[in-house]
Amino acid sequence: MIGIIAALDAELALLRGKLADENIRTLSGTNYYTGTLAGQGVVLAVCGVGKVNAALCAQTMCLLWQPTLIINTGVAGALAAGLHVGDVVIGTAAVQHDMDVTDIGVGDPPGLLLFGGERWVELPCDAFTTKRLTQIAEANGARVLPGVVATGDQFIHDSARKAWIVETFGAACCEMEGGAIAHVCAANAVPCAIVRAISDNADDGAAGDFLEFLPIAAQNGAGIVEEYLRSRGQT
Ligand code: ADE
Repeated sequence: MIGIIAALDAELALLRGKLADENIRTLSGTNYYTGTLAGQGVVLAVCGVGKVNAALCAQTMCLLWQPTLIINTGVAGALAAGLHVGDVVIGTAAVQHDMDVTDIGVGDPPGLLLFGGERWVELPCDAFTTKRLTQIAEANGARVLPGVVATGDQFIHDSARKAWIVETFGAACCEMEGGAIAHVCAANAVPCAIVRAISDNADDGAAGDFLEFLPIAAQNGAGIVEEYLRSRGQT
């Protein structure tokens, strides 16, 4: 079973529309759709925006369906130079850019997370899946950048915050769920992957661009996930 999580209906619509033998279970206010997609057993969910919603959903999937992989798909703001609307970032790792205990003054870095007796800043994405997703996205004609995904409970729309996230974490894109899903996956030893299509530049024009390009960018990301699922049946 592969778990697939998106924050918004628009980001999951393409995949849900192709789900066969659908069953729906509602838990803690979220619908979980199980069935077959491109030949693979999947559980799909629209988790809602932000880290708590994403974590709640990922943990529920881990406990109830024991997924062998969770994929987060959706849109993101561009951070890396040269990324444009419609391009795709495949996560090599995720960070939580709004996690900050630096003012305590004991030298902890921005983004530090403590769990499972360990210290984390970069939360891993599964290297094998990331490579495969990158190949598939390229084969589908997308411009693809594998890179760090920066997650926080903020819609990034100003150049100063954008520059700080790039300088601090070397991130390629920003969004609001991937780092929480990667966190839950690391805590449960479940491999995770993040596929994000660029909807905006995370600067002054971000809100308008996001609203305009969400539908098309969301489909770009979901289409790559669909092709990835199909490719698993062929190997
Ligand atoms: N998702 C899409 N664009 C975003 C942005 N600029 N900030 C945070 N999440 C996003």
